[in-house]
Amino acid sequence: MEEYVDFLSMEEQKSIQLKALFSRHHFQNYRLSAFESYDLYAKSREFATPQSVITFVGAKGQVMALKPDITLSIIKNTGNTEEKKVFYDEDVYRHDFHNEEYVRIHQLGIEHIGRLTHTDEREILELALESLNILGTNRLHLSHQALVNELLSWFDEEKRAVVIQALNQKSVHELENYRCVDQLSDKRWQLLKDLLFATTADFDKMHQLFQTTASQKALVKLQEYLSYFDLHNCFVDLSIASSETYYSGLMFTGYLKDVAKPVLLGGRYDQLLKNQGMNQSGMGFAIYLDKAFLSERQTASLPIENEYLKIALPKGRMAQKVIEIFEKSDLCAKDTLKDNRQLIFTDEEHKLQFYLVKPSDVAIYVEHGVADIGVVGKDVLMESQPDVLELLDLNFGKCVLAIAGFKDFQQDFNRPLKVATKYANQTRDYFASIGQAVELISLHGSIEVAPLLGLSDVIVDIVETGRTLKENHLEVLKVIAHSSARLVTNQAAYRFKQAQMNEIIKKVAQQL
Ligand code: PRP
Repeated sequence: MEEYVDFLSMEEQKSIQLKALFSRHHFQNYRLSAFESYDLYAKSREFATPQSVITFVGAKGQVMALKPDITLSIIKNTGNTEEKKVFYDEDVYRHDFHNEEYVRIHQLGIEHIGRLTHTDEREILELALESLNILGTNRLHLSHQALVNELLSWFDEEKRAVVIQALNQKSVHELENYRCVDQLSDKRWQLLKDLLFATTADFDKMHQLFQTTASQKALVKLQEYLSYFDLHNCFVDLSIASSETYYSGLMFTGYLKDVAKPVLLGGRYDQLLKNQGMNQSGMGFAIYLDKAFLSERQTASLPIENEYLKIALPKGRMAQKVIEIFEKSDLCAKDTLKDNRQLIFTDEEHKLQFYLVKPSDVAIYVEHGVADIGVVGKDVLMESQPDVLELLDLNFGKCVLAIAGFKDFQQDFNRPLKVATKYANQTRDYFASIGQAVELISLHGSIEVAPLLGLSDVIVDIVETGRTLKENHLEVLKVIAHSSARLVTNQAAYRFKQAQMNEIIKKVAQQL
């Protein structure tokens, strides 16, 4: 291979190394078609939401899909008693409706379906670790579906999707809203909070927290794996959680240093096979190879050194307030923020770098890993749903998202309600939830002007002091949601700089 290496990209070279590794462990190469019948995904929503599947009409008029996932296609082609041990190197295609984009994702991974033994399971975990080692400095975070099942039983069952999201985001202030106090005593609630932010796997605390037999067995298994691998970069992470229709046992997520999003996802999926009418066991993982090397291309051109902890703040009053808190806690030097038009400030002493950006852009910088930490309003988070950890409610910048209009506004039910807003997603969701037809008018600012000039009937906007509404002769007609400033971090950056970030969060929380 040596002579070809020069013109192969890093992604291609690593993909060859990974496939050689899987092949040495007797996984067979498996090729798939790029197309599937759409029916396959319509029935199995845990793989891809209908909006994310790219469909087209086949030659015979049937609805087809560009494959959004590999596992389901492999399962579909596996007999009920067949043993399949395969690796694949494929592209999958999805519609990212959030960014109105069609995306191609390069996935490389393995699947083992059959009667899996303890040794098979350990082999897959070992291969996940070895794969990450091939890719760079890494961490592998583990959990178990039995723990997730018990965890979910402590929270409002009707809010399961929101609870899973709050767990994924380590957002204890959100979790608290859904906690069933009779299921989770104050003492165990404190244990859960400690464990969500712990920097080492504290099995004593985990054994105190989890009480079902299935959880206790899962903990023994996790402990056994961790001691078998005896690695500092392997860790139990209770924020790994997904719906119980997919995984049934061990679950794991791999991160690479300086890569913003997880690059490896996998686990044991017997439940999924059962849902497909199969009584086998299965386990595997997928590596998002293009994500792994995107960062390399990006960071190569960055003027900013990586040793700094990078913090994105919303321009204006909120940035000032955060800096004040940082100064009071001795987290940054006095007068770090200069009163000028500069947008990047560096505190050399504390190795911090602050970026002042538009409030609605803070979470984008954090999600993409350009910033490690950000401060952003919950209203913005609810609107854009970024993949970040929401670690702290800062309890300032409080406001509500409300429908507002003229005091004597009378709705004309013969036509859809005209609503002007810069919060299109929340507005759409709210009116859909009450079954009200609306005509949305997306604006970028000065929303209050819209009803005054007859552009809309009402607006959906943020109300803080209420002054803007009052001075424009408008009133709150209905509050839709409450908001305040939140401290968010990048998923991967938090896992690599956890001790440093925990320290900042602790000090900031003391000032609130
Ligand atoms: C926000 C919001 C309201 C105003 C509410 O606008 O969109 O217009 O603040 O604050 P109040 O209740 O304290 O009067 P922002 O200042 O962000 O400017 P924008 O109009 O450009 O969106």
